[in-house]
Amino acid sequence: MGKNIYLFFGPPGSGKGTQSDILGKKLKLPVVSTGELLRHEQETKTKIGLIASNYLTNGKLVPNKIIQKILDKRFKKSDTKKGFVFDGFPRSEEQLDLLRARLHKSEKGSKVIAIYIKVGDQEVKTRIIGRRVCDCGAAYHLKYNPPKKAGKCDLCGKKLVQREDDKPKIISCRLKHFYKTIKPILHYFNQSHILIEVNGEKSIKSIEKEIIKNINKLNK
Ligand code: AP5
Ligand code: MG
Repeated sequence: MGKNIYLFFGPPGSGKGTQSDILGKKLKLPVVSTGELLRHEQETKTKIGLIASNYLTNGKLVPNKIIQKILDKRFKKSDTKKGFVFDGFPRSEEQLDLLRARLHKSEKGSKVIAIYIKVGDQEVKTRIIGRRVCDCGAAYHLKYNPPKKAGKCDLCGKKLVQREDDKPKIISCRLKHFYKTIKPILHYFNQSHILIEVNGEKSIKSIEKEIIKNINKLNK
């Protein structure tokens, strides 16, 4: 039987990480987040991490060669046999080609659904400025999604911090790169009739419901 692959798209701070974690838990599928994988390489100071660091800190897209390497490394794990949720991939036409090549080889026969979370720039900025994250990958928002204990992760109790690229100047750069590259990607999934578009300016819970409703419709 083919795998189920879900892809999340949206501007920085739109809720891709939040919603892919929710969907992954619900469907018992692992989340493959290129951003998280890159930050892990950066924190552990690997060769890849050192190269990627400059791009991450400045809000620029990391070169495709690096993305391919981290994905090859991630897919050596055996937990994606039934499928997975992609957060933040593909982000360019070249990466779309990489994905399509995978769908013709290792992921042949997979059912793919793409989810676009649409959020305006002002809301994105409010969300990113209030975001606090943990080493373990969990993300919170000071107002919209606060941790139970101020400054501490609900899951592991570690101290929450602000992401290095969550500064106003870098946010603008990330937004610019997003709008420069997203059009052909959405066009491809829309033409393939596997694109769900949700209004990301609602509550986390109602976006979750909207996504599930639309996935069920496509799966009918
Ligand atoms: P990545 O980590 O993917 O960052 P991003 O795309 O900028 O997105 P974010 O993680 O900032 O936001 P999100 O959409 O996940 O929102 P979240 O759920 O956290 O990538 C980082 C960098 O890595 C890139 O800039 C690039 O350098 C590199 N990179 C990654 N992938 C790459 C690739 N494929 N190719 C090349 N380079 C790549 O939510 C945000 C906040 O809002 C949180 O505080 C959350 O609690 C809150 N929130 C969420 N939903 C709601 C809601 N509905 N209402 C209110 N608050 C909400
Ligand atoms: Mg994220």
